[in-house]
Amino acid sequence: MRLTTTFAETRAAMRTATDRIAGLVPTLGYWHEGHVALAEAARRESDVVVASIFVNPLQFNQQADLEAYPRDVDRDAGIADAAGVDVLFVPDASEMFSEPPMTRVSIDALSGGPEGERRPGHFSGVATVVTKLLAGVQPDRAYFGRKDAQQLALVSRLVRDLSLPVEIQPVATVREFDGLALSSRNARLTSGGRAAAVSLSSGLMRAADAVDAGERSAAVLVEIAMEAMERAPGVRPEYAVVAGADDVQEIETVDRVSFLAVAATVGDVRLIDNLYLDFDEGRVAPDRGVWLQEPSAVYR
Ligand code: PAJ
Repeated sequence: MRLTTTFAETRAAMRTATDRIAGLVPTLGYWHEGHVALAEAARRESDVVVASIFVNPLQFNQQADLEAYPRDVDRDAGIADAAGVDVLFVPDASEMFSEPPMTRVSIDALSGGPEGERRPGHFSGVATVVTKLLAGVQPDRAYFGRKDAQQLALVSRLVRDLSLPVEIQPVATVREFDGLALSSRNARLTSGGRAAAVSLSSGLMRAADAVDAGERSAAVLVEIAMEAMERAPGVRPEYAVVAGADDVQEIETVDRVSFLAVAATVGDVRLIDNLYLDFDEGRVAPDRGVWLQEPSAVYR
């Protein structure tokens, strides 16, 4: 694996031969099995796999959050190498934003909803840095997790709107052995918090069972998800909502591809999760994600 720090070096490392398919996996770092799943998907479908690690200041609402974000490039490099990454692009702040950018990419219509309202400027910060990574690295495909459903909708839309020559590839959510969605933030949960945090996914899985049994009412699914979080000690639920997967607009009936999203704070750790509601031959097909067989390496 090669380590690069500039866009030019990254493109040169990618394009050692012509007409090779390049896959990009953008991340903030502190890799877990969710990031590994993205890299593995890229590995299967590309000739050259590039992953990026950049803690993007534009998408953090609070300076304290930005500073507290876990960073360990050596650890990440070992994991990325083992996952089949060929080029690990770790730009420093001067390569990315040597001066404050005057250009911002904003998709107001996809940046609201309960998640966007709580994180003003966040989605514009994501859209701007993703556009910059796609422009600077020039991959053929870029991989994004369903774990961040609104982010995926936003990135898919900006690529269409701006005719960027890249295919966005969604990857199913990777979950712990008990269902908790993997997140770099899980490492900050106390053991009591870790036990309670599973209520987010257990509510979603109960909602998935209800969908399988024929339930189509968003209000009923929201109620199932909220109740699971409310019953867990130390969990402060923020919201549960069903929204269209493409336009992120709240819906009342599951009559299109959509997701049931939840957010809650456990101790001082804010967690989000969602259940992707796909359609298969006219039937709703809840995607429960990929479950690990044993506890994630994040806790080891
Ligand atoms: P980060 O939180 O590091 O996530 C990087 C990618 O991994 C995202 O596409 C995210 O959806 C995916 N991911 C995270 N947890 C996952 C899980 N449990 N299962 C599957 N995929 C998972 O998302 C970001 O970084 C940033 O906003 C970024 C896109 C890099 C822009 O700065």
